Amino acid sequence: MQYNIAVIKGDGIGPEIIPEAMNVLNAIGKKFNHTFNLTEVLMGGSAIDKTGEPLPGETIDICLNSHSVLMGAIGGPKWDTLPGHLRPEAGLLGLRSEMGLYANNRPATLFQSLRNACPLRQDIADKGIDMVIVRELTGGIYFGERGRDDTSAFDTEKYSIAEIKRIAKVAFETAMVRRKNVISIDKANVLESSRLWREVVHEVAKDYPEVEVSDMLVDNAAMQLVKNPSQFDVILANNMFGDILSDEAAMITGSIGMLASASLGNTKCGLYEPIHGSAPDIAGQDKANPIATLLSASMMLKYSFGLEKESIAIENAVNSVLEKGVRTADIKDDSTSKVVGTREMGEMIIREIQNGY
Ligand code: IPM
Ligand code: MG
Repeated sequence: MQYNIAVIKGDGIGPEIIPEAMNVLNAIGKKFNHTFNLTEVLMGGSAIDKTGEPLPGETIDICLNSHSVLMGAIGGPKWDTLPGHLRPEAGLLGLRSEMGLYANNRPATLFQSLRNACPLRQDIADKGIDMVIVRELTGGIYFGERGRDDTSAFDTEKYSIAEIKRIAKVAFETAMVRRKNVISIDKANVLESSRLWREVVHEVAKDYPEVEVSDMLVDNAAMQLVKNPSQFDVILANNMFGDILSDEAAMITGSIGMLASASLGNTKCGLYEPIHGSAPDIAGQDKANPIATLLSASMMLKYSFGLEKESIAIENAVNSVLEKGVRTADIKDDSTSKVVGTREMGEMIIREIQNGY
């Protein structure tokens, strides 16, 4: 089978981590007899530099006509002074919206081998961290009406019942194949949109009697994530709250450099990206951790292509390199046997794939 994948290297560390993922996909293709046709397209700051716009029409066309999209990271100080609609981020938001990717799935798991990198107290870490954040991705304040005049500015948080319903369903479906618990995040003590969110979530919950559902105010959730993270199975959140809490959830697992994400809509064509940003401070130095991107490619194999064993082969290879104590600088800890750069980490993981995982 041939799989056409649109690839966005992006900015900052993007052009360093994505080639590792491309090499890994090629190694998987060779081992399991698939052809992955990787087509590079421009988006974000590099697209602005070359074409004047963050999301060229050609990129949208190629992404929509691919089986899936793999992305590194976008943005950087160079483009920070541009008006909002011309910033690199506008390219990413536009692509999510054009592709109809309303459901962002962000697993946060504490790898056993990285227990020492967890910034939480040992007794808290010992209880385990294994959650998925299901974040609404094409609505809310990210896409609401906004404006500015000489003395003020505004953004709008608006959700329709239909938008809340479809993301709530994703969360409940996700919970059904996990520990059957959904904690829905809102700020219903203040925001009307959150009160609607809560109502609709509980309506949808009626179709999933096996799943335990509860509500949590977002400020409390921020606290609970560091106090008692093992209570979370599936976190359901709107676009903004999901953005913020997923960074926090990522960091308590040791490094934001480890976590992958999948964004899906009504089809199998998804967008897969690490949840971290473009890290301009370490760009071009062969220091970035490519693992989140490799695990994003692994998620693509599973969710978009149904290639379960190929997906697991990447996960196992990552695990086995970590077990040997090999670390990039961001996840270095007491048990580290060797600190490697981006390329060497990628190469070692590929070797594990070739060696029979
Ligand atoms: C993320 C990022 C993006 C977001 C930015 C780059 C627009 O922070 O994917 O979490 O806010 O969605
Ligand atoms: Mg974010």
